[in-house]
Amino acid sequence: MAEINLLDRYPKSQRPIEERAAVVTAADRQLSKQFGRDYFDGDRMHGYGGYTYHPRFWQATVRRFRDYYRLPEDAHILDVGCAKGFMLRDVHELMPKASVAGIDCSEYAIQHADEAVKPFVRVGNVAALPYPDRSFELVVSINTIHNLPLEACKQALREIQRVTRAHAFITVDAWRTERERELQQQWILTAETYMHVDDWKRLFAEVGFTGDYYWFIPE
Ligand SMILES: C[S@@+](CC[C@H](N)C(=O)[O-])C[C@H]1O[C@@H](n2cnc3c(N)ncnc32)[C@H](O)[C@@H]1O
Repeated sequence: MAEINLLDRYPKSQRPIEERAAVVTAADRQLSKQFGRDYFDGDRMHGYGGYTYHPRFWQATVRRFRDYYRLPEDAHILDVGCAKGFMLRDVHELMPKASVAGIDCSEYAIQHADEAVKPFVRVGNVAALPYPDRSFELVVSINTIHNLPLEACKQALREIQRVTRAHAFITVDAWRTERERELQQQWILTAETYMHVDDWKRLFAEVGFTGDYYWFIPE
């Protein structure tokens, strides 16, 4: 179990934090939390403002996962909160003998998944993963489990732990300083469970999550 930034090769983006905070209403947040078209491909105020594939997003990161975990070429890899499957597409290209799987609660994202991985992604809930125990060498979940309320978030951690037989890596909304907490609260659209990094670590211990983790902290 390690605190490690395996997303250090993921490109940084400019976030209009104050602009969004000034205009976003509770109704906007409700719309975003449906994880439909508005969240992925609508206005930036409701989410991504266009969620499209680009190799610069995940290619270097999936290589980082493969090398850090020394994954066998036929590894089974699950992306929890896979959205349109873009990360899995790059895994599939890098490791053509690997078995990839993705799950996301968004019917919109799964319907619009990348054609290369469409057969391997499905609609479902991270708190009830439809896979047998110890199915995967690596389970990745980027910025997803914090979207659940606390008890369901704990269940999601237990589920990720249950279905991996080797490694897990997650990232969650968090903060280390008061300034980061303020920025996080201004930026958050969809998260339900977010806390200081030390509180996350206590939560991981409480539920028995032994995977690796890092933080999403807006700046
Ligand atoms: C911030 S996006 C991250 C998407 C992708 N992992 C990435 O990094 O580009 C969060 C994702 O979590 C999904 N999600 C939210 N709640 C979920 C749940 N309970 N079960 C499965 N997926 C969920 C959303 O639909 C969305 O695709």
